[in-house]
Amino acid sequence: MKIEKDVERVLIGEKELSDRVRELGARITKDYADKDLLLVGILKGSVVFMADLMKAVDLPLTTDFMAVSSYGSGTTSSGHVKIIKDLSNDIAGKDLLIIEDILDSGNTLSHLVKMLNSRGAKSIRICALLNKPDRRQADITLDYEGFIIPDEFVVGYGLDYNEKYRNLPFVGVLKEEVYRK
Ligand code: IMP
Ligand code: MG
Repeated sequence: MKIEKDVERVLIGEKELSDRVRELGARITKDYADKDLLLVGILKGSVVFMADLMKAVDLPLTTDFMAVSSYGSGTTSSGHVKIIKDLSNDIAGKDLLIIEDILDSGNTLSHLVKMLNSRGAKSIRICALLNKPDRRQADITLDYEGFIIPDEFVVGYGLDYNEKYRNLPFVGVLKEEVYRK
């Protein structure tokens, strides 16, 4: 049973994703040439994007991961952010680049940036694969962005619906019937 049968349509295909990721990687390589770059992936949505992006950055960077919860099992934001898994290492003096799957209401990231700022990072920037500007609540902007998308719930390339569909190699929209199950 192929998971692709649950997909209504592909929004961003594999080639488009890899081309854009390469462009972002090249920009990051330039921008962080003289810095101490630490990529902070926000679990679990950023995993696929970050794995591809870090290969496109030609610098001696380090990586760490953090897990926060902002969404329940549905498709609407709760506005609450809780640390599920904290970073493994100290970030004092580091140039952080937070890697996220999607900027939606922005509540998750704005809380996170405040918290990480208080730990003495030298700089903090944000890179998200997707941006849904129509849904913004918090005052936050992206430094690096893959694609602007309309206000639709998407899955794949790391993004989930009820923890599934992260392994789709593209970004797509699920069939209506999947949400009613
Ligand atoms: P925010 O705090 O509303 O910006 O929510 C950010 C998080 O919500 C993202 O990191 C995703 O995990 C999740 N999210 C928001 N929109 C979508 C979507 O369209 N598909 C899957 N997850 C989403
Ligand atoms: Mg996420």
